[in-house]
Amino acid sequence: MMFAATRLETDSKHDLYAALAEQARGLLAGERDRVANAANFAALVWHALPDINWCGFYFFDGTELVVGPFQGKPACIRIALGKGVCGTAAATRETQVVKDVNAFAGHIACDSASRSEIVVPLVDGDRLIGVWDVDSPSIARFDDEDRSGMQYLCEIFVESLRG
Ligand code: SME
Repeated sequence: MMFAATRLETDSKHDLYAALAEQARGLLAGERDRVANAANFAALVWHALPDINWCGFYFFDGTELVVGPFQGKPACIRIALGKGVCGTAAATRETQVVKDVNAFAGHIACDSASRSEIVVPLVDGDRLIGVWDVDSPSIARFDDEDRSGMQYLCEIFVESLRG
């Protein structure tokens, strides 16, 4: 299979996420392996979204979050529930949109270039799977359109694991 990961030419976030969702569906179709789908999902988003410096997964191992497939610089490996932006998203099961990471008490700095961040919890029914985390070197890079767009992408990812 050949898959063209390209930066999508549009100024509309809505259109960008709609196109990305279609690509994600195609890319994950017919495969249930979590590592395979997470790796391809992270690569897809990494090449499509402008102004990001890290994107990837932390998976819940029953006790804490453990880093999974990602794009960007090497990251911290384990994050306790309730700690940092990722642990907060996992504990509250609510998407965290952080306009300025320096203003978020307890933010865990993995890449000093990160200035803003969005973290979406991955939940299947009642079961916590982990979180999807995207960092940007720009302040306030993520807004409500990113929140709904990323949540939709994450639904496609979670759905793919069910087969
Ligand atoms: N900043 C995150 C840690 C993970 S890295 O950004 C890859 C946090 O505060 O949970």
